Amino acid sequence: MISEITRIKNLNSTLTDVKLIDLPKIEDPRGNLSIIEEENHIPFKIERTYWIYDVPGGQVRGGHAFKNQQEFIVALSGSFDVIVDDGKNKQVFSLNRSYMGLYLPMGLWRQIQNFSTNALAMLLSSTQFSEDDYIREYDEFLKYKK
Ligand code: TYD
Repeated sequence: MISEITRIKNLNSTLTDVKLIDLPKIEDPRGNLSIIEEENHIPFKIERTYWIYDVPGGQVRGGHAFKNQQEFIVALSGSFDVIVDDGKNKQVFSLNRSYMGLYLPMGLWRQIQNFSTNALAMLLSSTQFSEDDYIREYDEFLKYKK
């Protein structure tokens, strides 16, 4: 799995570096189980986990890029769309399975929207939180990508 994924070390990433990753799913009549191992199912070490929940209808999260951190996003419950923009093209990834996640390298603009009722978004990050890692202005993002 990990060898299939291009490791991007700078802001030159494009939509082709974004990967939908199927996670293992252990089916069981008692209920299913899925797994994420760092540097195995996802191509980075996990420094931080956070989750987004109780999103009121119509709200949009994200709307920024990261200079350094890579992310992996899973819809643990419900559904939402991740809109990814590399400065030239945009793509919508709909997440609605708890055994599937979206790998985002650094250097991509992304926002998350169309949250269903009771949606639970889990985000794994390759870095600890740093506001300095954010690009929050779209014009600044486009300048970075040039
Ligand atoms: P932000 O990343 O802008 O949220 P989103 O992209 O989902 O819309 O973060 C919202 C606020 O939470 C902002 O003030 C920074 C803070 N925050 C932390 O303190 N630590 C974290 O790990 C994250 C992700 C956010």
